Amino acid sequence: MRSSRPGRRLALVGCGAIGSLVASLLEKRKSSFKVTALFDVNVEAAQQLSKKLKSHPVVCKELRQVFPKCDWVLEAASVKAALVTAEASLKNRKPIIMMSTGAFLLNQKKLTQLAQKQTTKLYLPSGALCGLDGVKAARQIGSIESISITSTKPPKGFFGAPGLTAKQKGKLEKSKSAFYLYQGGVKGAIQRFPANVNVAATTAIASQMPGRLKVRVVADPTATLNQHEIRVVGQFGELMTVTRNRPSTMNPKTSALAIQSALALFERLENYVEVGS
Ligand SMILES: NC(=O)c1ccc[n+]([C@@H]2O[C@H](COP(=O)([O-])OP(=O)(O)OC[C@H]3O[C@@H](n4cnc5c(N)ncnc54)[C@H](O)[C@@H]3O)[C@@H](O)[C@H]2O)c1
Repeated sequence: MRSSRPGRRLALVGCGAIGSLVASLLEKRKSSFKVTALFDVNVEAAQQLSKKLKSHPVVCKELRQVFPKCDWVLEAASVKAALVTAEASLKNRKPIIMMSTGAFLLNQKKLTQLAQKQTTKLYLPSGALCGLDGVKAARQIGSIESISITSTKPPKGFFGAPGLTAKQKGKLEKSKSAFYLYQGGVKGAIQRFPANVNVAATTAIASQMPGRLKVRVVADPTATLNQHEIRVVGQFGELMTVTRNRPSTMNPKTSALAIQSALALFERLENYVEVGS
């Protein structure tokens, strides 16, 4: 089923939990995508990954250095880094896979126009979430009446979030029962919990109704898994999905399924037969 088309040199921007595991597994699977360049603000993370990979990708000291060395870019850094990375990739006509989907939602118009102008694609993987195929189908005919996402994680998954109040920080350490950290719109959620609500951003983008999406973020000291629950009601009927993800061992904010979702996207790009909408 696999093609052996040229033009599969891949640059990674961000060599943390997602970047490093995706790179290792692409190599293990003998994917036609070859990691040829790495960029990370933590140069040591990029150097360590380069040593681990058989392809020994070049470690770049600046973002702009990756573009002559790649045909594709995988952004797996942060919401803050993702806008700059996406703009530079599109300007260099390199298709980009963006894991930090919150950055896309906050800059949707600008990035969509740039992708169109440069005739270069921008991919937003499903990440840690199931059900986006249904959300996209649900809006094809008739209206979506309500849409919500509730993300629940163990407290350590929220440590260091920029939007935590002093009271919430204390509760994360001490509370024995689940409590809401956030209830509101998706843009506020991204600003307060950028590393935790990419799934909400991706849902908002898939629904094309960011203003209607209700986001709830819950810390639960009894939880061992990262859970995301979507509910959609519309003319099509009702849709409910619950995804319970094992957190990545490298980064408890990130679910293992998010890493696997990036791998599934690379598989889709390689295969001649596609399944799912
Ligand atoms: N779409 C989803 O469902 C989903 C799921 C999980 C994580 N994510 C997002 O994917 C991104 C990566 O996640 P992760 O778990 O690999 O994070 P991580 O913290 O394990 O790794 C991020 C790496 O990026 C590097 N980095 C930070 N800023 C950078 C910059 N400006 N330029 C280059 N490198 C930079 C860091 O040094 C680190 O090595 C995060 O933004 C995260 O929120 C998305």
